[in-house]
Amino acid sequence: MKAIAEAPSKVIITGEHFVVHGAWGLAAAIPRTITVEVEEHQSFAVRSDAYRGSRHPALRPLGEVVEAMAREYSFSPKVRVFVRANVRGGAGLGSSASTMVALASALSRMHSLGLGVEEILRHSMVGEAGVHGRPSGIDPTVCALGGVILFRPGSAPRRIGLGRTHSLLVSFSGKTRGTRGQINRVAEVKERYPGLFSGLVESVSAVSEMAADRLARSDMKGLGELLNFNHAVLSNLGVSNGSLDRLVDASLSLGSYGAKLTGAGGGGSVISVAPEGKQKSITSGLNARGYETFRAEIPVRGVRSWLES
Ligand code: MEV
Repeated sequence: MKAIAEAPSKVIITGEHFVVHGAWGLAAAIPRTITVEVEEHQSFAVRSDAYRGSRHPALRPLGEVVEAMAREYSFSPKVRVFVRANVRGGAGLGSSASTMVALASALSRMHSLGLGVEEILRHSMVGEAGVHGRPSGIDPTVCALGGVILFRPGSAPRRIGLGRTHSLLVSFSGKTRGTRGQINRVAEVKERYPGLFSGLVESVSAVSEMAADRLARSDMKGLGELLNFNHAVLSNLGVSNGSLDRLVDASLSLGSYGAKLTGAGGGGSVISVAPEGKQKSITSGLNARGYETFRAEIPVRGVRSWLES
């Protein structure tokens, strides 16, 4: 008997980095998934067809999650874990959070623990901390819950209802990166300019709340403007780079309402909001410039799990 769980990956619409320091962040689950299978085995083992060609950092802490859950619920940690991904690792799309959430959920299903979202998150955070050092929790929360959420550490996540489905364009800059280094870089800025930094936390928090409102009202032009503002702040913070800025410029020059880096930056991906009639042409324009781009329809469901013989 195998237990299987599938979790979506995510984009941060606004508020990355500042969310670590108390701002609201707005995030959406996207229909690129990670699937984790677990089954009993003679020892702990991880197999993966995910993250091909790379030693993805998400694979390392899987053992820590299994160990911690096995201890707490008194089951054997001798399991084989198989990870399949149809999302690129290191692209700012939450592949590690999605992996941890799917693993915790699959183990819960395997041992009939009936864990709710809060418990799944608590266990997946063990792995997330192993990967990122000091994450806010926004990534696993949106991968577990699905949909679109406003998230702030210490507050209950707020689900944002959408009147209809929307598409965000997601483009890969061509460079992967690690989140931990980017989080540390921002912490240094905070240390050097504490007053300035707290002002930015407050204004980006307001941006996230406004962005949630614009998205809920299907005001995509208004949402795009807020994305542009947020990208400028992230650039000033030093987490963007030439390739991300060029990708943002390309998205705007092709007719997007707004574009920004998404996730930790320093590489990874850019999201853009395009007028409905232009989504196809902007996607092919970006693809023609060499940027792998896809349309992510939102909202999508959160993690789900099942048993298979
Ligand atoms: C990464 O997707 C988002 C960051 O804000 C880190 C975090 O909140 O854990 C950079």
